[in-house]
Amino acid sequence: MFKIGVMASGGGSNFKAIIDRIGEGDLEAQCKFLIVNNGGCGAAAHAEEYGIPVHHISGKTHPDQAEYESALLSVLDKYNVDLLILAGYMKALPQSMLRRMPNRILNIHPSLLPKFGGKGFWGIHVHEAVVAAHETESGATVHLVGEQIDGGRILAQVKVPVLPDDTPGVLQARVLEQEHNLYWKAISDYAKELSL
Ligand code: GRF
Repeated sequence: MFKIGVMASGGGSNFKAIIDRIGEGDLEAQCKFLIVNNGGCGAAAHAEEYGIPVHHISGKTHPDQAEYESALLSVLDKYNVDLLILAGYMKALPQSMLRRMPNRILNIHPSLLPKFGGKGFWGIHVHEAVVAAHETESGATVHLVGEQIDGGRILAQVKVPVLPDDTPGVLQARVLEQEHNLYWKAISDYAKELSL
């Protein structure tokens, strides 16, 4: 049984999907904490419902950069997790965190990377760009987090069709549904690769 910690900023549907798979016994892991940068987000509400400790750490709670980084690192120290899972975490991680967990931080991105990744490609903007480019397929990617935004090793991808009448919002919902099937499996496979 390996240990994960999750970081999220938004609705938390990916976080919830992971926790549900743990609950169902499909993903043999324990979730030790959730870090949010927005205390009122949906992800925090899910964590409270499931009894998972929530740590709210942001530029607001810790305006001083050194204290902000040290608050994040102290959560990692406290729980000593095997993998850190970014599930819709909308802020770049500081170098100190990347250095603390090399090849142990995973992210999910709502496009077929390397397409539609990097600066500016987040949230609905990804799907707007895919629709504007008249792509016929899109999808989601689970990848390792390194110094380059959306640039780490790709661990898993899922494809979905882009239909002629799709709006960015319709496409986003189709991709998100598939993210929920993809992420837990990619975590499970990567944990096996690392013999966790
Ligand atoms: C997902 O589309 C994910 O790919 C991206 O942020 C979104 C998070 O959605 N990184 P949710 O908060 O898990 O519902």
